[in-house]
Parts: sequence; structure tokens; C-alpha cells
Amino acid sequence: MASLRSFFFACLLLYISSPSLGQQSFRPKALVIPVAKDASTLQYLTTIDQRTPLVPIDLVVDLGGRFMWVDCERDYVSSTYRPARCRSAQCSLAGADGCGDCFSAPRPGCNNNTCGVTPDNSVTHTATSGEVAQDVVSLQSTDGRNPGRVASVPRFLFACAPTFLLQGLASGVAGMAGLGRTRIGLPSQFAAAFSFHRKFAVCLSSSTSANGVIFFGDGPYVFLPGIDASQSLTYTPLIINPVSTASAFPMGEPSAEYFIGIKSIKVNEKTVSLNTSLLSIDSQGVGGTKISTVDPYTVLEASIFKAVTEAFISEAAAMNISRVAGVAPFEVCFSSSNILGTRLGAGVPSIDLVLQKQDVFWRIFGANSMVEVSRDVLCLGFVNGGSNPRTSIVIGGLQLEDKLLQFDLATSRLGFSATLLGRQTTCANFNFTSNA
Ligand SMILES: *[C@@H]1O[C@H](CO)[C@@H](O)[C@H](O)[C@H]1NC(C)=O
Ligand SMILES: *[C@@H]1O[C@H](CO)[C@@H](O)[C@H](O)[C@H]1NC(C)=O
Ligand SMILES: *[C@@H]1O[C@H](CO)[C@@H](O)[C@H](O)[C@H]1NC(C)=O
Ligand SMILES: *[C@@H]1O[C@H](CO)[C@@H](O)[C@H](O)[C@H]1NC(C)=O
Repeated sequence: MASLRSFFFACLLLYISSPSLGQQSFRPKALVIPVAKDASTLQYLTTIDQRTPLVPIDLVVDLGGRFMWVDCERDYVSSTYRPARCRSAQCSLAGADGCGDCFSAPRPGCNNNTCGVTPDNSVTHTATSGEVAQDVVSLQSTDGRNPGRVASVPRFLFACAPTFLLQGLASGVAGMAGLGRTRIGLPSQFAAAFSFHRKFAVCLSSSTSANGVIFFGDGPYVFLPGIDASQSLTYTPLIINPVSTASAFPMGEPSAEYFIGIKSIKVNEKTVSLNTSLLSIDSQGVGGTKISTVDPYTVLEASIFKAVTEAFISEAAAMNISRVAGVAPFEVCFSSSNILGTRLGAGVPSIDLVLQKQDVFWRIFGANSMVEVSRDVLCLGFVNGGSNPRTSIVIGGLQLEDKLLQFDLATSRLGFSATLLGRQTTCANFNFTSNA
């Protein structure tokens, strides 16, 4: 009797002092997380606090990933872990089909009468099945200038994965943070939890020693010395690929990835001749252009690669820039001796990705096109995707860095800035000093 009463009392105390319960009434307007660039894998990593007690979980940022998945097999300890019960609202939100049992001792990731999804390691293109679950996540709010008070989502939905799914990811990470266009992607869950706009913005740092940033919610998104990158964005429609591009998925599921409509490509403002049918998505979901944070460099279908690099080489030659042997994975490299340095990176021909109209384009200068592979050699940071790839153009990490990309899920629109280098700032200039 006495022990029962003290147990009850302990519960009562826990209830009163529990920080996550106290914070439920706090409604942030936006949230912020840091993004580091891993020097050895070139993956972009973030950290989110999860579980009770809270622990920081390092995750690979997967822009087109369908949800957050974490390794539940190793070191998952939490008093607030709850598997999603078969046929529950959580299962249908997660798009989970079927119910399952687990034939070993119960633990996070292994429970009976639960539903499952297929967590996807989009770096190695490996998928497996995993229990849908919920647990507390906690992250900092922001006014767009600094991080502020911590906000918690008590029942954040994610998928459990076995430890082996981490193979190929940066060391120390415990899973992937999917920012894709699904109901349980991070952007939609945070927007639903705090009733803010279904918008998020990504600003990747080019430095492996200074963090970039992801904002959930609307701007401002301010970088030192006081530049609001949410102003002066160029907009283009986000396109839905009707066929999932995940490694494994339920039939009929559209892709959670972000596609945009490139209509042509220019090098030094001259249009490159391309097979334009590769630029649209066909009924099988093949073709088109997507944006990816798991590909370190833009990947072009073979004929597009050939056309763009030939134009680039000839424009470079006209600038007296001499070509040297390729250095894998790059086929097109130059001697740096005649390349001038500019505020926007190496002084090389510009590459324009032309969108819905001739005057709407994504311009790529040297800082976003060239990779210094040695003191004397700079390579064009685009790789050859071979013939018949699933997606013709995959805009990768190098081409995204030091630009702000804002994804608006409600209006299905991408806003992108010109390189922030042109405004004397970078994605590493968010002021991470809390003003809470
Ligand atoms: C699930 O149920 C089966 C059969 O009743 C049982 O053998 C197994 O131990 C249970 N697993 C868990 C994780 O509870
Ligand atoms: C253009 O690409 C489409 C789609 O891959 C292909 O079917 C067609 O043969 C290509 N056309 C030319 C002229 O190469
Ligand atoms: C081109 O490069 C060569 C050798 O690097 C140099 O001698 C020459 O002066 C350059 N010409 C121009 C027009 O810059
Ligand atoms: C960063 O933010 C903190 C907190 O508001 C402020 O005290 C500090 O001056 C800011 N740093 C810079 C360089 O402006």
C-alpha cells in the first residue's frame, strides 16, 4: 500500500514537473535546426533531441525522404516510446499498410500488433521494413534571427530501423531526417503540431567547419549581418512525380521528392541543345529534375552531361582556361592557372537552369560549380548519370550551398535565392546564439 502510494506520488510529481507537458501550450512561429557538412561523406547532418530522457540524435538530412527513421535496435532507451497500433490513425497518417508481429523480445522497433513502413537509406538505395512509432522530439524555436525557447512535439511519428540500415551513412549518425512531401515528413508534422505554415527553408553551408541551417515555418530567415534571405526569392512551381522514387514503396504512391521544371540549360547565357523530352516526367515517373541533399554533386543524364560539358569546355577555352585530365568522379577538369578568383567563386562560365520562363533561371557561378581537387586543378562539379537514369537531372549538394531554398507545400512552390555570396553573407552566418 505504502509503495503504491509513493509510486502514485512520484507519478504526480513527474506530471507536474514534466517539461514536455509544460511546453505544449507554447506555440512557436518557426523552428530551427543546424546542418553540418560531413567532410568524409559530404552528407549534410543535423541533430534533433528525441526520447525521454532527451538525447541528441544525429541524422542525415534527406530532402526527399518520406519520414524520419532511426536505429531502434541499438541504444534506444525511452520511457515515452509508443509503437503505432495496427489500424490506428497514426498508421494511416504514415501510409502504413498491413500489420505485423515481432518474434523476439519486445523492445523499441519490435512489438506485436503494430504497423510498418519501409525506411529507406537513400544514399545506398537500401530499404527494409520498420515499425511506425511515436516519441517526443524537441527543438529550438526561432524568430528568424536567433534560436529561442525549446519546443516539443510529444508524439512525433517516425519509423524504426535496424542498425544495418545505417551502413553508408556518416559515422555517428542514427538515421535520416526526411523532409519530403508526405504527411509525416518533418515539415508537415511540425506545421501540424504548431499550426504554422507548411513551409520550410534549407540553407546548406559549403564549409565543413561552420553550420548551415534549416528553418521550419515561414521567414524571416536572417543571416549576419542582418540579411533576410526570405526577401528576393525567385519562385518556380514544385512538380509532383506521380510515381514514387523511393527504394521500396506501396503501389500508387507518388514521389515525396521535390521536382522542378527545367526547360533548358544555358552556358555563358547561350542555350545548350538538349533532348527536351528528358526534361519532363513521363507516366512511368521517369525523367525530369529533382533536388537532392544526398547527392553531393549534380548528376546529369549522359546526353545532357555531354551537351552541357562540351559547351562549358568551349566557353572555358574562349576564356583561355585549359583543360586537364579528369579526376574521378569528375570528367571535366581545368588547370587553375588561368582561372581568376571572384567574389562568387572561380571565374568560369556561368550555367543557367532555365525554368518556367526565359527570365526565371537558377544561375550557377564558380562557387557552386567548381571543386578544387588539388592546388592546380579545378573540376566541374557535375557527374555523368549514364543513360536511362530514373531522373534526368538531380541537383546535388554543391549546387545548393550558400543559397536559400524555401519549399512551400501548401502552394507547391519553390523559392530560391541567388548565391548569398553576392550579398556578402553565407548559409553559415545564422546567429546560433540563443536569445531565449
Ligand atoms: C508476439 O506474439 C507472439 C505469438 O503470440 C509471441 O511469440 C511473441 O513473443 C510476441 N512478440 C512480442 C514482441 O511481444
Ligand atoms: C530523347 O529522349 C527520349 C526519352 O529518353 C528518347 O526516347 C528519344 O529517343 C530521345 N531522342 C533523341 C533524338 O535522342
Ligand atoms: C592564354 O594563356 C597562355 C598560357 O597560359 C598565355 O601565355 C596567354 O597570354 C593567354 N592569353 C590570353 C588572351 O589571356
Ligand atoms: C548573436 O545573437 C546574440 C543574441 O541575440 C547577440 O547578443 C549577438 O550580438 C549576435 N551576434 C552578432 C555577431 O550579431
